Amino acid sequence: MIVDTLQRPLQSLRISVTDRCNLRCNYCMPEEHYTWLPRESLLTFEEIVRAAAAFVHAGVRKMRLTGGEPLLRRDIPALVRMLRAIDGIDEIALTTNGLLLAPVAHALRDAGLDRVTVSIDTLRPERMAAFARSARHADVVAGIVALRDAGFARTKLNAVVVRGYNDDELADLVRFAADHDAEMRFIEYMDVGGATQWRDDRVLTREEILKTLGEAFGTPATGRRRGDPHAPAESFVFPRIGTVGVIASTTTPFCRNCDRARLTADGTLFTCLYATGGHDLRAILRDASADQDALRNAIAAIWRARTDRGAEERLAEPDRQPLLELGDLRADPRREMHVRGG
Ligand code: GTP
Ligand code: 5AD
Ligand code: SF4
Repeated sequence: MIVDTLQRPLQSLRISVTDRCNLRCNYCMPEEHYTWLPRESLLTFEEIVRAAAAFVHAGVRKMRLTGGEPLLRRDIPALVRMLRAIDGIDEIALTTNGLLLAPVAHALRDAGLDRVTVSIDTLRPERMAAFARSARHADVVAGIVALRDAGFARTKLNAVVVRGYNDDELADLVRFAADHDAEMRFIEYMDVGGATQWRDDRVLTREEILKTLGEAFGTPATGRRRGDPHAPAESFVFPRIGTVGVIASTTTPFCRNCDRARLTADGTLFTCLYATGGHDLRAILRDASADQDALRNAIAAIWRARTDRGAEERLAEPDRQPLLELGDLRADPRREMHVRGG
């Protein structure tokens, strides 16, 4: 097993398959214009699979496809099928905004996808129109419904909670999730790259989220990282509704247990959501003289040297402001959350 300088193993890989997105959620993509990764820099499915196999050799057991919006990339079921053929993967999941999900849910399941997480921040179409600049709320709901029909279980719904936007909908979202056989999870608004509108007072904290839920559903049992000490979400069981997850990386970071690597669509490896720089794996993937061992060795060396504690360091900042300004993001789009795969 490969461990980093803080003895953390490498077990989970998030693969961003595209930097494009068909929403403009205010906490992630608030700007009018973005610089996109050059098309020729995007890894092919074959390259993604070779990279994934090298990560499995290094210890990865869980993979998650993300974006941008992953379903904007053509034929994701084919990629799932190719990844499934790698020996040693326990779970392949997908995080999506749901807009394009309904038509491909069955194909994803047939290809061997294990689980899906859908982002849904509000139940009110007019709020989504204002906050995410899309009138397609009904498509998200249709996507969630399609998951159950396609045979997916253990579906999770993610909402980033932003004060003044959706903080009055927490109980409604939990009921909605229960009605759709899914588990609701609330994410604290994070000051990551791309969140240029982030402000301290817009974060609804873990404590506030729990208080609101407690008023609606009764006092929960103590939260725990269910089954997996590396999971970012704490699970709380409420007497009147069941399990709700809280991901509190803004106020209660979990860096000490962080076992994840992220691969951008252009083959850059990031060992932290907050890291300023990444490592170029595309060059190795495209070097005809480099074999699979070269890739494995590079990944192992990068992970062994890893020191990241991004969220903990942010918490120690005395006067917390957005992580990066627009100029920094324009200079390197890989600093954006939507490029490194939220
Ligand atoms: P499961 O527990 O298997 O469902 O996976 P997950 O929680 O990693 O998946 P998901 O994509 O739903 O992630 C939920 C959210 O947690 C992300 O959107 C991020 O906001 C946050 N998150 C995920 N990974 C990290 C991480 O490495 N560091 C921090 N600080 N936050 C993360
Ligand atoms: N804070 C918290 N979560 C974020 N995401 C994107 N930007 C932020 C942010 N500033 C999350 C989305 C989605 C995932 C892909 O990344 O909610 O669940
Ligand atoms: Fe992992 Fe960095 Fe997130 Fe901490 S901030 S949990 S080290 S990705």
